[in-house]
Amino acid sequence: MKQKLRNSLFILGALVPLLSWAQLAPQIMNIDARQVTSLDGQWKTIVDPFENGYYDYRLNPYDDGYAQDRTYSDRTKLQEYDFETNKTLFVPGDWNTQRPQLYYYEGTVWYRKHFTYDLQPGKRLFLNFGAVNYEAIVWLNGKRLGSHIGGFTAFNFEITNLLKEGVNSLVVKVDNKRRPEGVPTVNADWWNFGGITRPVTLVEVPSTYIRDYYVQLKKNDTNTIEGWVQLDGDSKSQKVLLDIPELKLKKEVETDADGYASFEVKAKPVLWTPEEPKLYTVSLAAQSDKVTDEIGFRTIRTEGTKILLNGKEIFCRGISIHEETAYSSGRAYSKDHARTLLGWAKELGCNFVRLAHYPHNEAMVREAERMGFLVWSEIPVYWTIHWENKDTYRNAEQQLCDMIGRDKNRCNIIIWSIANETPVSEPRQAFLASLAEKARSLDNVRLIGAAMEKSEVEPGVLTVNDPLGKLLDIISFNEYVGWYDGNAEKCDRVNWTFDVQKPVFISEWGGGALYGHHGPKNERFTEEYQEDLYIRHVNMLKRVPGLAGTTPWILKDFRSPRRQVPGIQDDFNRKGVVSDQGQKKKAFFVLKKWYEELKEAYK
Ligand code: GCU
Repeated sequence: MKQKLRNSLFILGALVPLLSWAQLAPQIMNIDARQVTSLDGQWKTIVDPFENGYYDYRLNPYDDGYAQDRTYSDRTKLQEYDFETNKTLFVPGDWNTQRPQLYYYEGTVWYRKHFTYDLQPGKRLFLNFGAVNYEAIVWLNGKRLGSHIGGFTAFNFEITNLLKEGVNSLVVKVDNKRRPEGVPTVNADWWNFGGITRPVTLVEVPSTYIRDYYVQLKKNDTNTIEGWVQLDGDSKSQKVLLDIPELKLKKEVETDADGYASFEVKAKPVLWTPEEPKLYTVSLAAQSDKVTDEIGFRTIRTEGTKILLNGKEIFCRGISIHEETAYSSGRAYSKDHARTLLGWAKELGCNFVRLAHYPHNEAMVREAERMGFLVWSEIPVYWTIHWENKDTYRNAEQQLCDMIGRDKNRCNIIIWSIANETPVSEPRQAFLASLAEKARSLDNVRLIGAAMEKSEVEPGVLTVNDPLGKLLDIISFNEYVGWYDGNAEKCDRVNWTFDVQKPVFISEWGGGALYGHHGPKNERFTEEYQEDLYIRHVNMLKRVPGLAGTTPWILKDFRSPRRQVPGIQDDFNRKGVVSDQGQKKKAFFVLKKWYEELKEAYK
């Protein structure tokens, strides 16, 4: 991660006020390590399907609506809204699983939180949202702070000079309507959970603080730690001490007039692996601020059809995971949610998880790092995105920058994915080529992938001949032989061939079953069908040349409005090897057995 990253992120930071997400402040690295005050809990809400609180009856937007949060006390006057006497929703969380009336709701819900804050002189205060799906417009004390588009990335506003004595009124207009020009667009195979879906925090920092930093191994060099630090504030030129006590490493740098300094130091850290996920306490101390993180060190590269972690060939024994809680099947956001899902992946014998189809919450990525899971992280450039729309590209690129910006210090992420099952066309190739180039400019220590689709070039001969492949470091693709493509027996009679020497990574395969639904193995949605499919599919995968990893679809049954067989699907995609209630299906044990064999083979 070189100077280019810093230039891109710095330019992005400077450009932000000019973007349509005006007034957004640049990302703050490692929010939870700062002095934070949580605004999580019950927020007052108004469900507003006609956006009555935002548009007048001539459809002109006006700030004098619900954003002003007026209490309807004087009943001699006309007012047609009142947060105070309205219902609440828990933040963080989706509204769909909190209130039956909102199960399918797609539209606007207004959220309101009152808070007090005593900000000391010389301190600054930021308001950070972990994520809001899909568009957020934010007001504080009736003043519009700005807006953000994208349902899975963090954003923040500086509110240092906007606080009031006493009670402050924070109002957020959340609109989860799907849009053709959106990222994702209007069609997807997951539930369109609306809401303030990740934590909301007040972040207090010194007037000049360490806003961002990067500390990782230099590309393919296990003896050199490189990185940089970025200050934000008035006194930008400061001495900053990098300190990794366990390595007896101290390195002092001096930030320049922009508040930036880079470093490169010799060190021989114990390398992070899934078996020994070693993390070091790393601190950066400026004269005015100090921040501490837990950081691992590893190298990743490909060599022919191999993926090498720390120079050693690995097989990615993976599973795909949606960001959905166990049992309640709502939007996941916490460390506990992560531990439950990753605990099942651990029982499967996984050393890898594909966090589909969008950047997951930070707790999930950090818990995966602590528990020893390599990660595939992706942006929701999914299916039929509007490739020729400039705003769509800017949205996708912003989500890519935010995903890489937030998680660039998480050594367990080894693949950034820029797309999933997107139809081949010239505009799509140009769109994705730009994204791949942007990803490489931001990060040279990770692989770039995407879920392409397979082709049957002649009966029984399967390959991937997607032009996107030449932009990627791996041949990564989804295939459903035995489910969408024939029955399970088709797995026995097909073979795969690839004309490039890159690692093959099958990012989806599988089939559906309702837990506890039993019958003949040729009957769809029985556990016996899914088990037989897994047995035959694994035997097919053993014949795939250059296979270096796979993430079967999917760990847990998940909500989707596309899945409508009553009594079997009931708005759930049933391809999980675990039911939505945590019950392990017969196929779970087929995969577990194969992963045990692979663990032995790659010792
Ligand atoms: C596709 C897609 C997934 C979807 C899956 C399925 O490959 O990438 O998002 O859920 O197929 O049909 O179950």
